[in-house]
Amino acid sequence: MTTQALPIPSTLIVPPAIGRPGAISRFEDYQRLYQASLVDPERFWREQIQGFHWFQLPKRMLMGEGPEARWFSGGRTNLAYNALQRHIDQGRGEHLALIWESEAVNDRQEPVHIRRYTYRQLRDEVAQLAGVLARLGVQAGDRVTVYLPIVPELPIAMLACAWLGAVHNVVFAGFPALALLDRIEDSGSRVVITADGGWRNGKEVPLKPVLDEALTRTDLVKNVVVLRHTQTPVSWVPERDFWWHELVAANHSQPVPAEVESNHPSFLMYTSGSTGKPKGVVHGTAGYMVQTGLTAQYAFDLRPGDVSWCTADPAWITGHTYTVYGPLLAGASTLIYEGVLAFPDWERVWKIIARHQPRVLYTTPALIRAWMRQGEAAPRRHDLASLRLLASVGEPINPAVWQWFRDVVGRGTAPIVDTWWQTEAGAAMIFPLPHATPLKPGSATLPFFGVVPGIVDPNGVAIHGEGSGQLIIQRPWPGMLLGIWNNPRRYVETYWQAVPGGFNTGDTARRDADSYLWILGRADDVIKVNGHRLGTAEIENAIISVSAVAESAVAGVPDETTGEAVLAFVVLKPEAQDQGAAREAILRAIETQVGKIARPREIKFVDSLPKNRGGKILRRLLRELATTGQIKSDVSTLDDSTALLGGTKPA
Ligand code: PRX
Repeated sequence: MTTQALPIPSTLIVPPAIGRPGAISRFEDYQRLYQASLVDPERFWREQIQGFHWFQLPKRMLMGEGPEARWFSGGRTNLAYNALQRHIDQGRGEHLALIWESEAVNDRQEPVHIRRYTYRQLRDEVAQLAGVLARLGVQAGDRVTVYLPIVPELPIAMLACAWLGAVHNVVFAGFPALALLDRIEDSGSRVVITADGGWRNGKEVPLKPVLDEALTRTDLVKNVVVLRHTQTPVSWVPERDFWWHELVAANHSQPVPAEVESNHPSFLMYTSGSTGKPKGVVHGTAGYMVQTGLTAQYAFDLRPGDVSWCTADPAWITGHTYTVYGPLLAGASTLIYEGVLAFPDWERVWKIIARHQPRVLYTTPALIRAWMRQGEAAPRRHDLASLRLLASVGEPINPAVWQWFRDVVGRGTAPIVDTWWQTEAGAAMIFPLPHATPLKPGSATLPFFGVVPGIVDPNGVAIHGEGSGQLIIQRPWPGMLLGIWNNPRRYVETYWQAVPGGFNTGDTARRDADSYLWILGRADDVIKVNGHRLGTAEIENAIISVSAVAESAVAGVPDETTGEAVLAFVVLKPEAQDQGAAREAILRAIETQVGKIARPREIKFVDSLPKNRGGKILRRLLRELATTGQIKSDVSTLDDSTALLGGTKPA
């Protein structure tokens, strides 16, 4: 198979693709604009924000530093107005805004459900739902949890919240009741929007029943808006539960969009860190909007009339930013797909492209590897000529995978825009300008305007020039998070105090002789499985909730399919001898408390865990053992070196 090509030398430079008129097409222009963004940020950003709609222009572009930095203060705007109404005002109301396809197919293998919305239609749906939410008492600043499959009503719900200045909190529709409950409670949501269920791999995923189960443990939620989607009967709590379609039919008022201050929170996104439960990353309004809208243009070259397909679920930041807000802020059309991309088979993805003609395909290395394993025949059988730009996110993309993506999907000419960023960043931070930046396969290349990456050693000492270390961001950037919901201390400690000198990304990276950045992986206890971000602590907490378990430690190990995989080391209590039963109980605990996405690839039962003399588990040794099968690094701090080296029993 040609997919197993030799690795591409990582220094290979690929010239930028030729762009359309209007695209930045010279590397010198990128360098000049980048310099301008650093030398006079006030002036630079004042120019860049002109294309957005402001009820009131900001007085200052940036105020404050570090965790206190605030962008576009004093400005008044609305995210949904900018994503929808602005285009209607500018005469693009009949342009396509949203295309939805669901996985079900008929006998001829054609999709049963496709829906399209123009900007005007989408705005009408959003304003209607905003009216409904307002009638339920939702006001600016209130949090609304959204627990929906990938249907048009998911972006509609998000945008309706934004229309009111309410704070949406989208929860992945694959999460179990306890994970949903945590997110509802921590966010303090009194309204939840859900559906009867969703479709996944030909089967129904129940949603309302999962929410009902979560709500037996809290009386915080006063109203539930239920979308009828799968048509499966669901149980009902009168006065609390309402059908979406009935509320909308009965609503006759469409509120005007709220004119919120730039730093008004627009959404929460729960994500995993090193310790404790997932944290609610809070994003503001104007900074998020500006960086999202601008990167939709600069990174993905999106313009009105283009179709963009970002395969990410809006429950993750990639989908929030580039499935929903980015394309809409750019006036383009966004394609969303409900279900499994390999349903009914792997050919589906190429059929979707041929059918809807996206110009941009934005996806993860894990998916590209899965396509690669299927071979070239399928993508070559379909018309992929609409694709002009391919993009990748979520984990480092191996040069051979990069090349396959470019050659087979991008017909050898489409630029690969490898974008580095994270939930906290709001929008893309390090990426090539597709028509200006020479590419190096595997490198996210260079920072976006205003972004100043730094590489430091563990003591925070800057590494200048070539070298590797922890990746920090040395200046505030517009899309940066406002904080952690309910936990200002955790925000400052995790992001601003852990590594001196700037914002701690939690990643390690290398800077090469051309200043190109190469992301190496996480420096903390976060594991990326299929691009999903999981915290070791969350999984360990689920494992030790099993009564047979005495102790547990979880580590991430490289995995060809999923990027990284979860490996769990478990010490059973002396009286618990049945490893089979323990394994079942552990898997159940993980699935019900964290979710199926956190299932370990392997559970290893061991006699004890490697700890230092202070009792801290030495995860780096576990990772090393799991990755290389041996331990070569310094074990002098180990309390009992036989613990690990001699103690693994086959699972
Ligand atoms: O480790 C980096 C990796 O994904 C992490 C952020 O995960 P999350 O908050 O879930 O956001 C995912 C997508 C925005 C980062 O700390 N990561 C993201 N993009 C890349 C990457 N690693 C290498 N290359 C990338 N392009």
